[in-house]
Amino acid sequence: MGPKIVSIHSFRGGTGKSNIAANLAAVAALDGKRVAVMDTDIASPGIHVIFGLGRERLKLTLNDYLRGECDIADACIDLTARKEFSSIKPGKLFLIPSSMIADDITRILREGYEVNDLRNGFTEVIRAKELDLLIIDTHPGLDRETLLSMVTADYLFVVARIDEQDLLGTAATLDVARRLQVPEIRIVVNKRPNIYEDKAITGEVEKKFKSSVVTIIPMLPLLIDAGSRYVVTMRHPDSEFTKCIERIYEVIK
Ligand SMILES: Nc1ncnc2c1ncn2[C@@H]1O[C@H](COP(=O)(O)OP(=O)(O)OP(=O)(O)O)[C@@H](O)[C@H]1O
Ligand SMILES: [Mg+2]
Repeated sequence: MGPKIVSIHSFRGGTGKSNIAANLAAVAALDGKRVAVMDTDIASPGIHVIFGLGRERLKLTLNDYLRGECDIADACIDLTARKEFSSIKPGKLFLIPSSMIADDITRILREGYEVNDLRNGFTEVIRAKELDLLIIDTHPGLDRETLLSMVTADYLFVVARIDEQDLLGTAATLDVARRLQVPEIRIVVNKRPNIYEDKAITGEVEKKFKSSVVTIIPMLPLLIDAGSRYVVTMRHPDSEFTKCIERIYEVIK
């Protein structure tokens, strides 16, 4: 099987995209895959924090690549070289972060960049790092980076909470994704409150959106407690959350 591009998206913010992307990447890498996560949320980046890179200064980022100042492979951090991810071997886990420096963010939003450069970045990093999986963490809504990640994606996971604003937004996202002919589209329901039953949610959502629900992740104290400070599936391999992420992984494996 050739390399796959997996896009994690949601119409509204805060649905759990970045945590799902980071954990999916870790689960795949622990299974021996060569995986990279790219943070295309240029306006509000953050997935590097989940990988424990919060307080460190990021050297090269996606922003430097898009400005033509480095190769995409140079902006690729090998997380597996770090002690906390050493158990991943023989798999590989890379991260292409987006800059947290205000000047970098405002500059790229103001000046823009060639969308083709981002597309080439996807293919180039897959080639340079011999990836099995490129997982793309996106900005909520339907911006340029997200549309591009959809056009190029083999798999799209749309994350939604049980909330009318999320669900109506999901309908819009699915509509666009189908028009862009994304081959495999699945829904991930996250932060499910205890008052709902999984079976009823799956039935209703699948009927409404004509896409299958791959997993329903409850509102979990474990995730609240982690607060995006670490990769939960690595610390808690037997948790309910890990099982949900493994269900997503089964789709792309
Ligand atoms: N199943 C869950 N139960 C409880 N808290 C969760 C769950 N999933 C995610 N969270 C929490 O929700 C918050 C938002 O998660 P995350 O940053 O992954 O969302 P996001 O969709 O990437 O947000 P943004 O749209 O801002 O990029 C985090 O504090 C995270 O810990
Ligand atoms: Mg995010």
